[in-house]
Parts: sequence; C-alpha cells; structure tokens
Amino acid sequence: MYAQMIKSEATEDDPEKLAAFQARIDAGEKIEPKDWMPEGYRKTLIRQIGQHAHSEIVGQLPEGNWITRAPTLERKANLLAKVQDEAGHGLYLYCAAETLGVSRDDLTEQLLSGRMKYSSIFNYPTLTWADMGAVGWLVDGAAIMNQVPLQRTSYGPYARAMVRICKEESFHQRQGFHIMMAMVNGTPEQKRMAQDALNRFWYPALMMFGPSDKDSVHSAQSMKWRIKMNTNDELRQKFVDETAPQAAYLGLTIPDEALTLNEDTGHYDFTQPDWSEFHDVLADNGPCNVERMSARQKAWDDGAWVRDAMVAHAEKKRARKVAAE
Ligand code: 3HC
Repeated sequence: MYAQMIKSEATEDDPEKLAAFQARIDAGEKIEPKDWMPEGYRKTLIRQIGQHAHSEIVGQLPEGNWITRAPTLERKANLLAKVQDEAGHGLYLYCAAETLGVSRDDLTEQLLSGRMKYSSIFNYPTLTWADMGAVGWLVDGAAIMNQVPLQRTSYGPYARAMVRICKEESFHQRQGFHIMMAMVNGTPEQKRMAQDALNRFWYPALMMFGPSDKDSVHSAQSMKWRIKMNTNDELRQKFVDETAPQAAYLGLTIPDEALTLNEDTGHYDFTQPDWSEFHDVLADNGPCNVERMSARQKAWDDGAWVRDAMVAHAEKKRARKVAAE
C-alpha cells in the first residue's frame, strides 16, 4: 500500500525536480511557501495542517462546556485561558495552511461538508469536572507527544507554528495533571470521578495517534517528506511509557489488565484500542459527532455578518486608496 501511495503522489512531478526536492528534505532544509514543491507534498500538508487546525477549534467545545461550572475562580480562569489558547492554535495553523494556497473559508467549508476530518477524540463527551483533568493530562499529553517532533517538520510555516503551540500545550497538560492531583487527594467520591474519567479517556487518547502502522495510509510518504517525524505506533508507545508511571503516581489504575513493564524491551506492553470503534467515530457515528458539527455550523452561520462586514470594510478602504492615487 505504501509503495502504491508513493508512486501515485510522486510521479506527477518532474523526476529531476523531485530528486532535488528530496535532497533538500534529506539535508534537513526547511521548505518555504515560495519554494517549488511536489503537488502531493502540498496536498498532504494541507490535509494534515487543516485537520490539525480544525481539531484545535473543535477541541474548544468539550472544554468550553465546563467554563461556567468550574469549581473555583482560579480553575475557571485557567480553563478560560486554555480554551482561548486552542483558538489561537487553530488560527496559527489556518495561517500556515493558507501559505499553501488554500483559504481559511475553503478549509472550513471542507470541514462542514464532511470532506475534512478533525481529531476523533473530540467526539467524546465531557461528563464531569474530572474530565477537565483527564483531557488536559491525557489529550493534551498525547497532543504534545505528537507535536513536539513536528517542530522539526520540513515545512517552515508549520514547524514555526508548532514551536509556540507546544509551549502552550505543555501548560495545558500540567494544568490537567494538577486537576487530577486535586481530585485524587480529595474525597473518595472525587477520587472515584478521577478514575472514571481515566477509564473513559484512556483508549480514545490512544486512538489520537491514528491507526496502527500497518493500516496507516499516509505514514510512509509523510515520513519520507518529513511531514511526519515518527510513525503512529512509535508515538503511541512513547505516550504509554510516559503516562503509566504518572497514573501510578496519582494512585489511579489504567483500564488495561495487560499493561505491564516489559523488562526485555524497557517499554510497557499494552492492549491496543478497539479499532472498530475508531473507524466508527471517523464515520461520524461517535457519541458527539452530530453535536460538534452542528455547533461548528451554527458558529459559521452566525459569523457570516462579521465576515461580510470585514470584506466590505476592506473593499471600501481599497476604493478610497485608489480614488486618492
Ligand atoms: N482522528 C481523526 N482522523 C484520524 C486520526 C484521528 N485521531 N488518526 C488518523 N486519522 C485519519 C487520517 O486523517 C487519515 O484519513 P484521510 O486520509 O481521510 O485524511 C486516516 O485516518 C489514515 O491515517 P494515517 O495514519 O494514514 O494519517 P496521517 O499520516 O495523517 O496520521 C495523524 C494521522 C497522526 C493524526 C497526523 O495527521 C498528525 O500527526 N497530525 C497532526 C497533529 C494533529 O492533527 N493533532 C490533532 C490532535 S488534537 C489537538 O492537537 C488539539 C489539542 O488542543 C489537544
């Protein structure tokens, strides 16, 4: 499947240009917007950056749900700041995608028509305050695991956007862990809520890294182009290795009886997620797919007058400038 993919995306361009392009990638050079690039490289970046941007925006919804119900003023301020950061991440990423010749409106329309995806994780509900802890600790934790290597990705605007995003994601992961610490050291009921949140978010967090390597359609070509720096399974293993001791520190149990440190490999053995559930969520059958998309559609429709006003303002400014010249 990988060989087929490489062939179909790579042969559409001039072989000499392709070889020179690959040599730049192999030498660790950054590709910038005005540089020549294969069409497949451009399309893969638009797909990945676009999906990433949509994930940041949709990812505000499950957490926004808890802003009015945060238990203290400090928790509320932290959560507000976090949700606001995610909006900023979406905007940096839409800007990075725009350098590849696609407009933000196009990307949003592709999302709303179901032609573009967002991360599967955001199709799960946040049922209790402990979920704010689990989301920060596990979801942002998984996001960082995936995104730190992307700071070295070959496309300059994407790599630079990731530097700032990673700094903020690391704060998000810590604030999630801090909520979990407070919950496990609280009443027995609070500790039970923390365990329940871990039980519900563990496997969806593992799914964030994408299908197993043997089923990943894009990994081989994306790694050759350094759009991806690691395979899905490598990052998933790294996440399990880092998170298992953190769960033990919290006094919580990861819902996987097979989870054990393998002395021979130095890594944790663990049970893979239920991949049929993953495919079902991607096919719009997750618990919150309909709710998330209708919230995005409503925001898009409600914001139409703002977009129209901005365009009219820019046009008026341009006309005034032309008249003055
Ligand atoms: N959710 C939804 N779709 C997923 C997915 C997931 N967790 N994992 C994989 N897929 C999709 C892929 O998009 C692809 O579908 P497509 O061909 O229709 O686009 C298909 O499943 C096959 O998967 P591949 O492994 O071949 O796809 P990729 O090579 O693109 O790898 C990825 C998937 C690892 C998610 C990669 O795209 C990536 O690293 N993306 C950048 C990071 C990102 O998007 N993160 C979103 C996380 S959430 C977040 O950052 C918000 C933060 O605030 C928590």
